[in-house]
Amino acid sequence: MGAQIAGPAPLRNTALLGLGVHRPERIVTNHEICQQIDSSDEWIQSRSGIKERRFAEDTGETVLDMAISAGRKALEAAGITGDRLGAVIVATSTYPYQTPQSAALVADALGTGGAAALDISAGCAGFCYALGVASDLVRAGTEDYALVIGVERMSDTTEPTDRSVRFIFGDGAGAVVVGPSDEVGIGPTVWGSDGSQADAIRQEPDWVNFANNPDQKRPWIIMEGTAVFRWAAFEMGKIARQIADKAGVELAALDAFVPHQANLRINDVIVRQLDLPETVAVADDIIETGNTSAASIPLAMEKMLRTGQVQPGGLGLLLAFGAGLSYAGQVVKMPPLAQ
Ligand code: UT7
Repeated sequence: MGAQIAGPAPLRNTALLGLGVHRPERIVTNHEICQQIDSSDEWIQSRSGIKERRFAEDTGETVLDMAISAGRKALEAAGITGDRLGAVIVATSTYPYQTPQSAALVADALGTGGAAALDISAGCAGFCYALGVASDLVRAGTEDYALVIGVERMSDTTEPTDRSVRFIFGDGAGAVVVGPSDEVGIGPTVWGSDGSQADAIRQEPDWVNFANNPDQKRPWIIMEGTAVFRWAAFEMGKIARQIADKAGVELAALDAFVPHQANLRINDVIVRQLDLPETVAVADDIIETGNTSAASIPLAMEKMLRTGQVQPGGLGLLLAFGAGLSYAGQVVKMPPLAQ
């Protein structure tokens, strides 16, 4: 008989120790968007709730710049330095390189001294996917501290004259530090996907063959908005209930509901299905931020904390959904922001 492998460390509770975001400087109004698409401020606001979004600048606001900026602020809010991080996980679909992964460069810039680093691609669900992985890593004792970042430059991947997508998306980044905790600060993850509807949000054409096409049309995001709307409005209420059930929390006991900021109307439908009492604050960051895909959940949390809609330590239900079609979420205790 060979030598034995040492058993796992006892499981630990985990929590969100700090939150930081990067919102690009440049505000882009519906009026500016409508200079390139056949639409109107009135149509965009009534169909989506969006008044404005932010687009990143070419210098100083790359995907990496924004991820590092949000990560630094999350570390500051958590009161730890980068060298304590054992893992950096970046959720993104818009980092312009497939190799090497963005997380390795972020981990280096934050002075982790060689933390494990991986990117997660799960569309708009990416942040909650990454948070589930990070929480389980810390819970199992694989690492003590992990940084989770959601970051996107959607302005790079939406065709400026495509009126089915251009007005919806925006740019930005949000990050949280996950670490061990006396009490449960991050509930169990509920997640999944429906690849049979993968075409509903897709990239077209692929990166390998586009150069061979006669028109060399570069890849853009294509979205069947109505199909995504129906799926989200019918299915995501059920998923929110599963998230609360798995955490053993009554929906009425929540302080905040933080659904993905894809469309204010989708979130209104979900809130009605859940019959949430008015004591539960509902995130509405989409109005000023648009849909920032994997960055949307941490940006929406930051707005709620900054404006006092919820306090650090309050119970929040996170629910992210999008391309895949995939979804993920968990109940959390809301983290502190940097002072
Ligand atoms: O984060 C990833 C997940 N993404 C989402 O969750 C997005 C989900 N989908 C949506 O938010 C909505 O489907 C949209 C906001 C994208 C579109 O709203 P909709 O109510 O589904 O509009 P529609 O596509 O059914 O179009 C309604 C009408 C059509 O005209 P007719 O056929 O009724 O005459 C469209 O041609 O509005 C027209 N239309 C527009 N008009 C002005 C479509 N896009 C536009 C536009 N401006 N940008």
